[in-house]
Amino acid sequence: MANVTVVGAQWGDEGKGKIVDWLSERAEVVVRFQGGHNAGHTLVVGENVYKLSLLPSGIVRGTLSVIGNGVVLDPWHLRDEIAKLRGQGVTITPDNLHIAETCPLILPFHRDLDGLREDASGAGKIGTTRRGIGPAYEDKVGRRAIRVCDLAHLDALGPQIERLCAHHDALRAGFGEPPIDRERLLADLREIADVVLPYAKPVWVSLNDAKQAGKRILFEGAQGILLDVDHGTYPFVTSSNTIAGTAANGSGLGPSGAGFVLGIAKAYTTRVGSGPFPTEQDNEIGERLGTRGHEFGTVTGRKRRCGWFDSVLVRQAAAVSGISGIALTKLDVLDGFDEIRICVGYRIGDRDYDYLPPHASDQAAVEPIYETIEGWSQSTAGARSWAELPAAAIKYIRRVEELIRCPVALVSTSPERDDTILVRDPFAD
Ligand code: GDP
Ligand code: IMO
Ligand code: MG
Repeated sequence: MANVTVVGAQWGDEGKGKIVDWLSERAEVVVRFQGGHNAGHTLVVGENVYKLSLLPSGIVRGTLSVIGNGVVLDPWHLRDEIAKLRGQGVTITPDNLHIAETCPLILPFHRDLDGLREDASGAGKIGTTRRGIGPAYEDKVGRRAIRVCDLAHLDALGPQIERLCAHHDALRAGFGEPPIDRERLLADLREIADVVLPYAKPVWVSLNDAKQAGKRILFEGAQGILLDVDHGTYPFVTSSNTIAGTAANGSGLGPSGAGFVLGIAKAYTTRVGSGPFPTEQDNEIGERLGTRGHEFGTVTGRKRRCGWFDSVLVRQAAAVSGISGIALTKLDVLDGFDEIRICVGYRIGDRDYDYLPPHASDQAAVEPIYETIEGWSQSTAGARSWAELPAAAIKYIRRVEELIRCPVALVSTSPERDDTILVRDPFAD
């Protein structure tokens, strides 16, 4: 099947938006299947820069864009993001945007709770985006959530709202916060329902129809595999599964629909928020990577932590997510380094590891083992063919492939849509 599932292979911000936008020229449907507006995907098309948090990146080209059931949806953010993109000339209608009726809603008190918990956590804080993602997922699995389909049944929602609010009031009381105003919440939901409901659909039907018709479906992951709630650097993770398998249960297409799994990895590593980061360079090298790579968060504006490429982590990400090929992004940011380092293993005391041990204290204690590779002085910025790359850059890419045991399918050399080198077409597999 010629579908492609794009997932982040590090801690997010690998350049998924750029690659999804590039691939979406040939896709007929683009689907978000997990996360929410904690994501920040940047698309650069000539002079125009689009920043999307909730809407699938395919919307910019007008491709049918689907928000699957696995996404937690803030309806007020949805309204604002649609308005912002329309302001940039993007067409968004119920014909090209479908939202699963079963998406759980992020409500204002989810955002409050996210912030209250972070503020109370001191040094142990996760560094979330404070957008209510975790609390909304908790209510989903706690079977208390208000979902998109509930917006069409607001008159019957009283007991459900009461149960949800009672749960949150107890949590809020612990932080000295007043109870939730039920009347106000219902009034706000009534107002926003008209904005959301025109897009609400049984998206599993449109996706299965697309599959039957042999259409190309592109799944757009958010965050990265090291932020996965099961496979990531727990507890410093997001609250969803970010691996490729989630494309199936977060959309209603079934496991055979994922197709080619394209992992996106930067040619170095970044992380925003707290948690272990073995190859972090809290020094001049990190500063240089951050400055050259413009490493500031799309959603929160926070400075991203920067470090060398960690082949142990990307190999692990490729394994747990079943990655078929990698898109190596931001190669141009490494231009001009005399030497480049790659982490090839870890050591704790006298024990070596070829994977990241699961316990947070071990993760914080690992010492990276590095291999040093010759850099290149030429510019790779804007390269669109393999022939334009210096020999040392090609050597670096080949060494990365060897270490992560996964082929490089694409290389990205600037933020611009078309500055992309195709090595192996993910849609052709
Ligand atoms: P995402 O969350 O994975 O979609 O990534 P973000 O959009 O949050 O962050 C990636 C940043 O790098 C964005 O500002 C992109 O415009 C930019 N970017 C993507 N690919 C490249 C590249 O190959 N080179 C450079 N210099 N920037 C890139
Ligand atoms: P994209 O899709 C990078 C991080 C937060 C925090 C942790 C938990 O743009 O790659 P959350 O608000 O999800 O509960 O925060 O996850 N995080 C991201 N980091 N890119 C993202 O998305 C992220 N989404 C969440 O910084 O460490
Ligand atoms: Mg991002």
